[in-house]
Amino acid sequence: MLQPKNVDIYYFSGTGNTKLVVDKIKEVLKSQGYNVSLYKIEKVNPTEINLENKVLGFAFPVALQGTYPFIWHFFEKLPSGNGNLVFLVDTLAAYSGGILGPVKRILRKKGYNPLIAKEIRMPSNLSGSLDQKKIEKGLKQAENFALDLIELKGSWYDIPIYSDFLSIFSRKEFFWNFFRRIFHLTIDKQKCKKCNICVNICPVGNIEIKEYPEHKDHCVFCLRCISFCPQDAIYFKEKKNFKKYKSIELTKL
Ligand SMILES: Cc1cc2nc3c(=O)[nH]c(=O)nc-3n(C[C@H](O)[C@H](O)[C@H](O)COP(=O)(O)O)c2cc1C
Repeated sequence: MLQPKNVDIYYFSGTGNTKLVVDKIKEVLKSQGYNVSLYKIEKVNPTEINLENKVLGFAFPVALQGTYPFIWHFFEKLPSGNGNLVFLVDTLAAYSGGILGPVKRILRKKGYNPLIAKEIRMPSNLSGSLDQKKIEKGLKQAENFALDLIELKGSWYDIPIYSDFLSIFSRKEFFWNFFRRIFHLTIDKQKCKKCNICVNICPVGNIEIKEYPEHKDHCVFCLRCISFCPQDAIYFKEKKNFKKYKSIELTKL
């Protein structure tokens, strides 16, 4: 049985898929008597997290056969664990490049006990289509994952060397810089009402308040600003037909 009964889940969700999954896991754990708290990775200083008497959960979206650089940094900055049990969930459209392996190794090295991990397929937030059937299937998997977790059933899939090699792509700024040179997020000044929601929700502080919001040079393409702009005023200059995707409302993110 999963013990202790205090579970802290640290998550990031760009467009809602990961948050839907995290909410489902929380619902199941709570229904079985667990105290579950959720924390947003982008708002937490990892060096200050409280590990005492806790099971830790982590959840994030797959990006570039890995995940966003600030999520890698979060794992690297975690304090030393005391053998705390850890579980992990990522959401993805198709293939993750085996990110579970490198994350497991970071956690092990820090003294955690990485126990069970799961990759859950959800609609691609790059393709724009809100496929409810796929979401339901993903959430059923999340429910089963949480039930298995309570029973300590499951494993943490890993292909060493291969997955460590693939993880280099998303860990290194080099590859992100490549995309930053190709794609530029831009504000449509005719539509923008200067509400500054984009400025406040960007997880990496990449949007500056000027006369109109302005994207700087360290975007991670999580798509939040496009997805949750109430005026649909943000677009890729080089890809004007890009369709925005969001699976929940901003207040639930
Ligand atoms: C920049 C970017 C890169 C992505 N790379 C991958 C990938 O390598 N493999 C994959 O299966 N899905 C990839 N996806 C799709 C997302 O992982 C998937 O839709 C995820 O569920 C989104 O979660 P969120 O809504 O919580 O942000 C990518 C999405 C974005 C925006």
